[in-house]
Amino acid sequence: MTHARQQPIQVVAHRGASEEAPEHTLAAYRKAIEEGADALECDVRLTADGHLVCVHDWRVNRTSNGRGAVSALELSDLAALDFGSRRSRESWRRRGEEPDWVHRPEDREETSVLTLERLLELVADAGRRVELAIETKHPTRWAGQVEERLLELLRRFGLDAPASPEESPVRVMSFSARSLHRVRAAAPTLPTVYLMQFVTPRLREGRLPPGVGIAGPSIRIVRNNPAYVERLRQTGHPVHVWTVNEPVDVDRCVELGVDAIITNRPRAVLERLGR
Ligand code: G3P
Ligand code: CA
Repeated sequence: MTHARQQPIQVVAHRGASEEAPEHTLAAYRKAIEEGADALECDVRLTADGHLVCVHDWRVNRTSNGRGAVSALELSDLAALDFGSRRSRESWRRRGEEPDWVHRPEDREETSVLTLERLLELVADAGRRVELAIETKHPTRWAGQVEERLLELLRRFGLDAPASPEESPVRVMSFSARSLHRVRAAAPTLPTVYLMQFVTPRLREGRLPPGVGIAGPSIRIVRNNPAYVERLRQTGHPVHVWTVNEPVDVDRCVELGVDAIITNRPRAVLERLGR
């Protein structure tokens, strides 16, 4: 069934325009903003000295020229690494395309570790509304410190207490219900997104963790269980789907009336949506 939508589907750049430039770098986020993405997705982790940095994996091995756990490194250690050197061009090769982004090690800031603070500055200077979907990674290990630090930073940018969740340019996402609970307890009007890889019996009934407004199913759930998306929407939960890179999946999301598409290819998705 096709659904009439009130608002256009939001296009969210997953780790920035991460198929074109190295994930979670300033280069990837600048590109996503230039391409017209409505929002940026980022994962956050705490360094050994308590800074929130945008890194997906627990270690830096895959995405930088260094080695080691983010939690064991200080910000100055991470700042010495190059996060632009290990980028995989596999997906471009598969498509027979050539990326237009070129790695220039001399442009230090573009591909050095990105702090959440720097990303918030980038968004503040974007010159248009660009939303931010921040995912807390491994929050249980840190017993509340990730959320505490996150809310402290958002407070500094005047983003921690929106008048209502609908108006907020920032939302917090997690696979951890406990992490979202901590965020809601301290910042009740900040929207939260419960990320799901599987549909458990409780979730099947359309019940998200208490107080969570937005559902974040994987594209695999959407492909295998479109009726579930329907149920979520009927129970009043906006649906944000990750990670949607194939045109056929974009079409599927449009047909089901989802609210946001999280993608590594914001430019291609915007084109597919006719924007
Ligand atoms: O946007 C949600 C998605 O990013 C969750 O998966 O592993 O890419 O962080 P992951
Ligand atoms: Ca993520």
